[in-house]
Amino acid sequence: LVTQHVPTKTIVMQLCSNCHGMTGNSNSPNFPNLAGQPEAYLISQLQGFRAHTRSDKDGYDYMWGITANLSDAQIQGLATYFSEQTAQTSKNVFLPEKLARGQEIYEHGIPEKEVPACVACHGAKAEGNQIFPRLAGQHSTYLLKQLNVFQNTEQRPNGAMMKGVSHALTKENMDDVSHYLESM
Ligand code: HEM
Ligand code: HEM
Repeated sequence: LVTQHVPTKTIVMQLCSNCHGMTGNSNSPNFPNLAGQPEAYLISQLQGFRAHTRSDKDGYDYMWGITANLSDAQIQGLATYFSEQTAQTSKNVFLPEKLARGQEIYEHGIPEKEVPACVACHGAKAEGNQIFPRLAGQHSTYLLKQLNVFQNTEQRPNGAMMKGVSHALTKENMDDVSHYLESM
């Protein structure tokens, strides 16, 4: 399928949309939303899967094969395409107390445990910037899974900053902040 001359939209339709949706808004919590992710972040992750440096289990199971034959130009085209799509908001409803605890962590971190504020890198609206991913509206199950990857493994080497951020977070802290982010 993947030859040098296939238009980006054809690649999206044939290779990505089954899981991530045609506009990068996926209906299943198993598949992260890509819409509105910064272009630089998308490029770094696709290159990471292709080079096998991002080796967390689902990345390995789902994304290594998909990216194996993508060229740099195709990765660039896909990253531009998904970064330009509008991110949808989640329809799920969560407990207000949980969201309030998550918002506190997002905006202020946990000073007594030296957890920094997420807002410093991920942005006021969790919209992301450059290599810092958008987190707003992302499926909470995916966010929680990745926080565990950063905390407990070396499977995302570009996430060195996140290892420091996540090491003192409890399961409940991670759950709270993930649900707050999905609700944004
Ligand atoms: C993760 C892009 C096709 C399943 C990702 C990520 C990107 C991406 C950029 C990382 C998201 C993040 O870090 O926030 C693409 C593109 C595709 C494609 C451009 C087409 C060329 C697919 C397909 C499937 C799939 C067909 C399902 C069979 C997944 C899963 C993850 C993921 C499960 C999460 C991996 C993890 O937890 O590490 N994809 N994808 N993707 N994708 Fe794809
Ligand atoms: C990635 C959450 C603070 C830098 C991520 C991801 C999550 C996350 C869930 C993975 C997103 C995805 O795969 O799509 C948080 C939370 C924070 C926080 C809850 C606060 C408790 C920070 C801070 C920095 C930072 C303070 C900068 C010093 C990054 C970077 C990545 C990332 C660079 C991408 C890593 C990679 O490419 O593998 N963050 N973050 N984060 N975060 Fe954070």
